[in-house]
Amino acid sequence: MRRPVRIAITGAAGSIANNLLFKIAAGEMMGKDQPVILQLIEVPQAMEALRGIAMELEDCAYSLLHTITLHDNVEDGFKNTHFALLIGARPRGPGMERSDLLEVNAEIFTRQGRALNNVANRDVKVLVVGNPANTNALIASRNAPDLSPSQFTSLTRLDQNRARGILANHTGASPRDIRRVVIWGNHSPTQYPDLHQATVLDRAAMDQISFDWYVGEYIPKIQFRGGEIIKARGQSSAASAAQGIVDHMRDWVLGTESGEFVSMGIVSDGSYGIEKGIIYSFPVRCDYGRYQIVQGLEINEFSRARMSATEAELLEEKAMVEHLLPSETAASHENLNICLRSGVTLYADGTGPDGASKYLTTNRIG
Ligand code: NAD
Ligand code: LMR
Repeated sequence: MRRPVRIAITGAAGSIANNLLFKIAAGEMMGKDQPVILQLIEVPQAMEALRGIAMELEDCAYSLLHTITLHDNVEDGFKNTHFALLIGARPRGPGMERSDLLEVNAEIFTRQGRALNNVANRDVKVLVVGNPANTNALIASRNAPDLSPSQFTSLTRLDQNRARGILANHTGASPRDIRRVVIWGNHSPTQYPDLHQATVLDRAAMDQISFDWYVGEYIPKIQFRGGEIIKARGQSSAASAAQGIVDHMRDWVLGTESGEFVSMGIVSDGSYGIEKGIIYSFPVRCDYGRYQIVQGLEINEFSRARMSATEAELLEEKAMVEHLLPSETAASHENLNICLRSGVTLYADGTGPDGASKYLTTNRIG
């Protein structure tokens, strides 16, 4: 048996966590041979509900579930953790503007970034789910000066899964026959679901759909899917969000399938002309617990306009929380040139961003 890994989860009594915890304990995220310690974190008012969930987890008698600990603060809950899933966030209340939402969540993610910096395992891998996920991830990472920005990611795998599922329905293919769908940018209605490199049964997806359907129906359907679900269910997506989290973390830790790439919100290193330092969803490949942006994809004018629109929204969000972003971490965000912490990266085509070494680059940050 392997040594157990520690997974800290905020918002652990909420709807997404209710769908997620049982999958993690069953080995769907970290692998069927990897025992886990769950460090579950909630606000003080939700601790009793959390105790109930812990009892249910215990009652499933999962053989991979080593220990469960419950915490009402992140300073205890993040201690020594190898993974942190930041799900808990303030939802948008009546009359609240987007800027108000950014502001209240900024406080939560500032504190969480500091706590990760102070008490988490030095190689902690962080996934931010609570909305606005990209900018919350930026705030957390900028408040963690001793960790690399590349350790902080945000969830757009749910959008990628949506994009595959909806394309599968339209073409009559199985989702497993659809590859290389890309989500660029923000987890918001400005995101750009890009099919220009996607294939359906190994043939170009764009040759199998009409451009009018792509622009008029498909793209808006993915962009507004979250809102549609809230309208229909009265609550935001939970089971599919949990599946997206499992897929994101599993691929990050265990690697992407051969020939496939996946979308993750990560700090931009300037690839594809996207402003450095924002958390933007890119196509990546993962191996050995690292990720690397897929380079060299052809970007046409249509795609460029959409990639820039979602970039502009992220820059606007960043401007709204600029006063909460410590200036001393700006340089480590902007000087990042490969997306790896303990990074030893071999660029297959010899063209790392910013003139990185042709053969082997080590880039330890922080
Ligand atoms: P929920 O309201 O059911 O649960 C959230 C839980 O977080 C609550 O139990 C609450 O007590 C807890 N919480 C709030 N602040 C906390 C804090 N500071 N520390 C610890 N716990 C805290 O919500 P949910 O449906 O589980 O969704 C959670 C978040 O995920 C929301 O912000 C939602 O918008 C977002 N979301 C993101 C995606 C994505 O793809 N990125 C998809 C779906 C939902
Ligand atoms: C989703 O994409 O389902 C959610 O992010 C929607 C939301 O606003 O919670």
